[in-house]
Amino acid sequence: MNKLFEEEFRFNQASRPNWESGARHRETLRGYLTALAGNRQGRLCVLGAGNCNDLDVKQLLQVYSEIHLVDVDQSALDYAVEVQAVSDDPRVFRYVRDITGAGQELAGFEAASISPETDLSEIIQQFSQPAELDLPGPFDEVCSTCVLSQLILQAVSAVGDTHPQFEQLLVAIRSQHFQTVVDLIIDSGAGLVVSDFVSSESATDLKEVPDFQFTQYLSQLLSSRNFFHGVHPGVLFSQLKGNTPLAGLVRNVEMLPPWRWDLGSRQYAVAAIQFHRLPRS
Ligand SMILES: C[S@@+](CC[C@H](N)C(=O)[O-])C[C@H]1O[C@@H](n2cnc3c(N)ncnc32)[C@H](O)[C@@H]1O
Repeated sequence: MNKLFEEEFRFNQASRPNWESGARHRETLRGYLTALAGNRQGRLCVLGAGNCNDLDVKQLLQVYSEIHLVDVDQSALDYAVEVQAVSDDPRVFRYVRDITGAGQELAGFEAASISPETDLSEIIQQFSQPAELDLPGPFDEVCSTCVLSQLILQAVSAVGDTHPQFEQLLVAIRSQHFQTVVDLIIDSGAGLVVSDFVSSESATDLKEVPDFQFTQYLSQLLSSRNFFHGVHPGVLFSQLKGNTPLAGLVRNVEMLPPWRWDLGSRQYAVAAIQFHRLPRS
């Protein structure tokens, strides 16, 4: 069994009772996904759907003709459709997938026994290629919901964050994720990458900061380098802007205002970037 994924399963199991506390996060996400859907009645794909505590599937079915939920945790997906009473709805699909295609190999590393000389080139190479996901894409809209921080955390657990090639591995994981999202979008379709980037565990005032000071507070956290590995919102934005290969495939790249995701005992700050896919030539 993959110990990195087992950790995800444990986290998903523990976070199941958070439907109520996540209402605001879910509502924010629903607003953006509804706006992106327009009047097309298109097909939505969600990467890292997990328990779907952040997705009101029934409401989203009012604007999407199909919803495709992707996660490595079968039990979380099963729970999600049961609890939202959509398990028999033919418009809702579930796929158990490792969206990186390299999670098995990554789990083969033992952070404790890794030395600076351990060569990570092969695993970096694996993350440098798109995973074959065997999904019925492309989709009109693709949303990645707070899975990128988890993918990077898995790398930290596997190899540690002090290895000389860690930064290279992180860059490969992040680039692959953005590439996966963009590849899954139909011509002129839309993408929404949502990422948690700091929590009240390290930003102890996060819960108390009033809304009107939230953005300023987050800027201070970012300036003092208090954020999860590899998911500084500015760096995420730069994946699709400027002089990057992906920037040439998308347009209307927009950073949305950050918001809070309340997970009961812990609160997260969330950043999101939305964009459209340029037609393939
Ligand atoms: C923080 S949770 C997202 C929250 C989720 N949308 C919810 O509301 O329950 C991250 C999700 O990413 C999934 N995940 C982590 N690594 C993955 C991988 N390599 N492939 C697919 N899903 C993965 C986890 O199982 C988990 O469900």
